[in-house]
Amino acid sequence: MRSICLLQSFILLCASLNEIASVRLLKFTNVKCKDLPTTNGFTKYEYCHLKVVRRNYVELSLKVNLLQLPITNLTCRLQCFQRTDGYRPFLYNVHFDFCKLMAAQKNYDLSFERFIFGAIRMHSNFNHSCPWKESYMMVEKYALDFTKINMPVPAGVYRLDFTFYAYGIPRTLTQVFFEKIE
Ligand SMILES: *[C@@H]1O[C@H](CO)[C@@H](O)[C@H](O)[C@H]1NC(C)=O
Ligand SMILES: *[C@@H]1O[C@H](CO)[C@@H](O)[C@H](O)[C@H]1NC(C)=O
Repeated sequence: MRSICLLQSFILLCASLNEIASVRLLKFTNVKCKDLPTTNGFTKYEYCHLKVVRRNYVELSLKVNLLQLPITNLTCRLQCFQRTDGYRPFLYNVHFDFCKLMAAQKNYDLSFERFIFGAIRMHSNFNHSCPWKESYMMVEKYALDFTKINMPVPAGVYRLDFTFYAYGIPRTLTQVFFEKIE
């Protein structure tokens, strides 16, 4: 009898924890990818999409082919926008050396870009230093998880723009939209 009670309270506890978790969440709402006009045969996007696996669990997958290898000079601009009326720049706008970031995986100064690429690392091939010799960049089935990525930003809709440059020339633009609910 006693163990049944314990089991019941455990189930109740789980149910209420679940309820809390379902109110606070972070999920992708859209993604857009393109080769920029200045890519000049450098990149070719193969796919870029979201998949709703279950309610409030959305996976991002994308793959862009790199057509001129090896790449020795790779930088990235990361810009954050918040939706108010239209998308307004929000907090972050950084242009960093992607090769340097990839080379120093065990650096403990936690910059915004390190935080972002650290989060997708296990679901991507963003784990090589330069020269970049692999013929593509990809993210595979990556879902946001509120319990792992607790971004100190207000609830709302956001957009992250990733512009990749090779040799100082912009090649691709990837726009990731997500929503934070509290
Ligand atoms: C990089 O990521 C790819 C794809 O996930 C994996 O196959 C490869 O073993 C990884 N390489 C290193 C050096 O971690
Ligand atoms: C990458 O190329 C750009 C444009 O040519 C140049 O300004 C920059 O210094 C280069 N970066 C490295 C690390 O060589």
